[in-house]
Amino acid sequence: MSKNFVKTAVIGHPIAHSKSPLIHNEWLRVYGLQGSYEAIDIEPEVLADGVRALVERGLAGFNVTIPHKIAVMELCDEVDKRAREIGAVNTVTIRDGRLHGTNTDAFGFAQNILSACANESWNDWSFDGGAAVVLGAGGAARAVIYALLEQGAPSIILLNRTREKAEELAQTGADRIKVESWQKRSDVLEGANLIVNTTSLGMEGKPRLEIDLSKASSDALVTDVVYAPLYTELLRQAEARGLRCVSGIGMLLHQARPGFELWNGIMPEVTPELEEKVLES
Ligand code: ATR
Repeated sequence: MSKNFVKTAVIGHPIAHSKSPLIHNEWLRVYGLQGSYEAIDIEPEVLADGVRALVERGLAGFNVTIPHKIAVMELCDEVDKRAREIGAVNTVTIRDGRLHGTNTDAFGFAQNILSACANESWNDWSFDGGAAVVLGAGGAARAVIYALLEQGAPSIILLNRTREKAEELAQTGADRIKVESWQKRSDVLEGANLIVNTTSLGMEGKPRLEIDLSKASSDALVTDVVYAPLYTELLRQAEARGLRCVSGIGMLLHQARPGFELWNGIMPEVTPELEEKVLES
């Protein structure tokens, strides 16, 4: 094996359904790079041993998915500011045996929307154009809120079934985040610039997200972190009302880019061909 062969992986449990190997191996092929990206199942009880084995095998880095995104932080020698603020690590780079953790989910969320705006010529839409309504206060919401604050959303209305979790998350954005009760989710949409579902509602096998978009402004952009199905009921309702819609698959594709760049030195592009391959898989 050549010295330039770059070994990378994703760790999780379970891991068989991860789309990350397909995405990274496709980029390795497209850019003509020598390397590998494999899916490695590590049970939570043996996470530290599993990670040590990756260092010993000479990996350049790895992605981290459920359920290890929080636990892996303790195993890192350094965790950057964004990962600390989001409260999870999804990308680790190994340099001289030391583990550097970061989080690329906020980047993935923002880039998915920005690239949709560029592709669709929605030049009149921007993150700083008005309030963002965020449904949910779990792990995905933390990254979404980080991105919204970073991209200059002037205010964020946060709603979660368990209100205390929303109150807790709101502390991170201090005066820019206002918590409303979950029951008000259809009412708070009036005048919103952006509407984001970060809950698991609407995902295949999960209950539907009950929401009425009739109060949403015609300028609003609606997005869902759920991508199976690709067009969730939320997005279909938004499309029927003529609102701008951005599906969640792009967040998955864009969040993978910074890790690939850290390990292989090339910032890869998200193309319609890649999206099609991932959706077909
Ligand atoms: P993730 O890391 O994908 O965000 P999570 O941390 O488990 O997953 O968060 C799931 C989100 O979906 C939470 O906001 C959760 O609300 P609670 O905090 O009240 O649990 C939300 N969610 C899941 N099932 C829901 C339901 N039936 N109704 C409303 N919200 C729901």
